[in-house]
Amino acid sequence: MDKKNTFTFTDNRDGKSYDFDIINGTRGPSVIDSSSFYSKTNMFLYDPGFTSTANCKSDITFIDGKKGELIHRGYHISDLVQNHSYLDVVYLLLNSKLPTANESKSFDTEIRYRSYLPEGLRYLFQAFPAGAHPMSTLSSAVAALASFYYKHLNVETEDEFQEMARRIVSKIPTIAAFAHRHSVGIPYVHPDIGRYFTENFLYMLRAYPNGKLRAPIKDIEVRALDTIFSLHADHEQNASTTTVKTVGSTGAHPYVSISAGISALWGRAHGGANESVIAQLSSIGSVDKVDEFIKKVKDPNDSVRLMGFGHRVYKSFDPRATELKKLRDQLKTELDLDTNIMQIADKVEEIALNDEYFVSRNLYPNIDFYSGTILTALDIPSTMFTPIFVIGRTVGWITQWMEQKRDPKTKITRPRQLYIGK
Ligand code: ACO
Repeated sequence: MDKKNTFTFTDNRDGKSYDFDIINGTRGPSVIDSSSFYSKTNMFLYDPGFTSTANCKSDITFIDGKKGELIHRGYHISDLVQNHSYLDVVYLLLNSKLPTANESKSFDTEIRYRSYLPEGLRYLFQAFPAGAHPMSTLSSAVAALASFYYKHLNVETEDEFQEMARRIVSKIPTIAAFAHRHSVGIPYVHPDIGRYFTENFLYMLRAYPNGKLRAPIKDIEVRALDTIFSLHADHEQNASTTTVKTVGSTGAHPYVSISAGISALWGRAHGGANESVIAQLSSIGSVDKVDEFIKKVKDPNDSVRLMGFGHRVYKSFDPRATELKKLRDQLKTELDLDTNIMQIADKVEEIALNDEYFVSRNLYPNIDFYSGTILTALDIPSTMFTPIFVIGRTVGWITQWMEQKRDPKTKITRPRQLYIGK
């Protein structure tokens, strides 16, 4: 063993030392290969929340949390959102390269044609009560897809992988729109394949059952939502992706793996934060109450957290938030964003970015802080904020699921514990 590329652990109880290989990636921190740690030392590594644990090798997404950098397949997120559509980002994640003009066109066409749902799935929506949160319906309907496409339990070939991925990406917006329409008690609107993915989603949310719209969908609205989808497309080994991969590691069907990821995303500490941000800003009520609210957040005896602030990985600006802030500023005049909520948000941000409490803890606005205000301006109900995150993120989940499935060395995910019971 070349000692230079090893890391030595010494057990100070008996002075015994153990060497482990250091593995370097192409970017970011190296890792210590601790897979033989237990067999060599008869001890486990204790790392609640996996703050120092790399669970896989991946070539999909790279994040530098200190620099605030997010890269997919070698492309910076700012380049992707400024120069490419969401469907091109989907293509990039699935195929490891951006599409040519022809590839982009045929991919778009296929996604449109696959956007319809199996007819029987409609009855599942009807089993949900009025007012059901769309995240609960969405998670159930995606799990149900595993019954409609059961034979894909054993996806083996690259073609089968890719077809399964295109199917789920194209159907998710339809399921999300149906979940919303059922929840508020209005008839479903089927996809219009004459419309691009993102425009089609807005159409399915807004149209009357006869396909008429109260007002045409504006290009700027499509562009804003398309950017939001791109910014959510993937984020390496976050909680929901890890959930998808944990379920996938057991050999379960891809669609139930994604359904589990949807459930993981719903929590307020993860994707559910975008809905909570708007609820919190609304509960503050007015700009003059912001100071008092911030005092509560800083009070160690009060458990309230400032939603949309802080991130496990980004300890400087979240680059997705930077893009959304730019977008929000562009939209401010065009979409009449100067609302009471927006003014409260601006004041919260101004105070937090200069306050010792937030600065010393590296708490910056994350993607959810800005997405909620933009989605509100697009007239999207707040219960649909997290489903919109799901629509954007589905490609990331399935790409990561496929990468894990392709790796012959994949093991079932099975952490150990420190037993402290009787
Ligand atoms: N408001 C106030 N204080 C906060 C916040 C916040 N939003 N986030 C962290 N802190 C404080 C903690 O109280 C703690 O303070 P202490 O050291 O005095 O005890 C310190 O900052 C570190 O907090 P941790 O919880 O250890 O940080 P962690 O990295 O585990 O948490 C998380 C990250 C869950 C995102 C957290 O910042 C949070 O709860 N934020 C609000 C929810 C949110 O916006 N989630 C969306 C995340 S982005 C996404 O999932 C797409």
